[in-house]
Amino acid sequence: MTYVVTEACIRCKYMDCVEVCPVDCFYEGENMLVIHPDECIDCGVCEPECPAEAIKPDTEPSLEKWLGVNAEYAKQWPNITQKGEPPADAKEMDGQSDKFEKYFSPKPGSGS
Ligand code: SF4
Ligand code: F3S
Repeated sequence: MTYVVTEACIRCKYMDCVEVCPVDCFYEGENMLVIHPDECIDCGVCEPECPAEAIKPDTEPSLEKWLGVNAEYAKQWPNITQKGEPPADAKEMDGQSDKFEKYFSPKPGSGS
């Protein structure tokens, strides 16, 4: 199994998660992060750290889409290990629906 970052991260991108991951397996897109499923050691430490509750174990139902997004973009985006500045409107975006369809960006972030 692995943990995955889900839709709730999009345009919230709080980045508290990267500070606690013992194996530095987060990767940064323009407006969300993903977890590399082959690098995650399933420790679960990041899950309660996310203010948007975006991180889930892939044992939860209906996360196949997100496992695919995490696996695909972890190969393309740069590694991130340090928390940066979240988007200015992160709180307004928190909890919105259909964020993938409206806002997902395949562009990479800057990494750290
Ligand atoms: Fe990192 Fe552990 Fe979260 Fe996996 S579950 S991404 S290893 S903190
Ligand atoms: Fe995203 Fe939550 Fe991390 S919003 S960047 S998964 S702390």
